Amino acid sequence: MPQAVEANGARIPLVGLGTWDLRGKTCARMVEAAIGLGYRHIDTAAMYGNEAAVGEGLRASGVARDEVFITTKVWSSDLRARDFERSTKESLAKLKLSNVDLLLIHWPNPSIPLKETIGALCKMKREGLARHVGVSNFTLALIAEAVKLSTEPLVDNQIECHPYLDQSKVIAASRKAGMTVTAYSPIARGRVAGDAVLARIGKAHGKTAAQVCLRYLVQHDVVVIPRTSRPERLKENFEIFDFKLTPAEMKEIAGLAHPGGRIVEWGGAPDWD
Ligand SMILES: NC(=O)c1ccc[n+]([C@@H]2O[C@H](COP(=O)([O-])OP(=O)(O)OC[C@H]3O[C@@H](n4cnc5c(N)ncnc54)[C@H](OP(=O)(O)O)[C@@H]3O)[C@@H](O)[C@H]2O)c1
Repeated sequence: MPQAVEANGARIPLVGLGTWDLRGKTCARMVEAAIGLGYRHIDTAAMYGNEAAVGEGLRASGVARDEVFITTKVWSSDLRARDFERSTKESLAKLKLSNVDLLLIHWPNPSIPLKETIGALCKMKREGLARHVGVSNFTLALIAEAVKLSTEPLVDNQIECHPYLDQSKVIAASRKAGMTVTAYSPIARGRVAGDAVLARIGKAHGKTAAQVCLRYLVQHDVVVIPRTSRPERLKENFEIFDFKLTPAEMKEIAGLAHPGGRIVEWGGAPDWD
């Protein structure tokens, strides 16, 4: 299967390294090691406080800048036009980059008109600070509104996505709008490692439960950005392209979704689906 997905002109590698909670030297070392192993996609955000370390790891890897897909995000308190632009420029200064591959609105903020934020997001693309733009944590209603307001193609909606949560409606709506979906917390913050169903399926393929979970998502063309602070897990989380889950296995994994499966506390609109 291809190791990247395409949407509205963007080509996004299916596996990236999530960096929330990785800081300083640990973050820089993990980014460098991930790129060394073949990762070509790194996910950061202004809110993570690690963009300088991500930039350091990228430079230390020795891999050409244009070979690595870098995503950053503007936090929900910075969604007024002037704040948005300032935040984006600060992110680029910390990363020591002239642009990012993907700039996202991190969380919607109901107290700031979406029109103003989308206008600022599009401006960042027109001015070359972001090659592509998109959203994160956008509901069905917000996706529809964002698409209507945007003068630039939106390429991605980054949402919580793993086998314990049925996100089929928001995935369908994102795709209908031409966007890919990136799964955050794709291994349910490590919970899948102890899952008996995933472990059993993994045993049949010589893979771990976490690898089965990540394979399940990429086999649905969903981009995954697992985070780890352990070098040995970088390899584990990347080696998911040398086996294929059967339709019966895919169906059994889909059956793990249940109400209350969400992990990240949702403080936005109640209309996820
Ligand atoms: N847009 C948003 O609002 C949003 C929200 C949340 C996250 N994100 C992004 O998505 C990324 C990933 O999500 P996440 O950090 O919430 O959770 P995650 O990637 O699902 O899980 C990370 C946890 O799983 C453990 N782990 C990693 N690989 C493992 C493996 N192979 N087996 C068992 N455990 C493993 C890690 O521990 P060790 O470090 O010990 O390996 C860590 O505790 C974030 O880092 C961030 O970049 C975005």
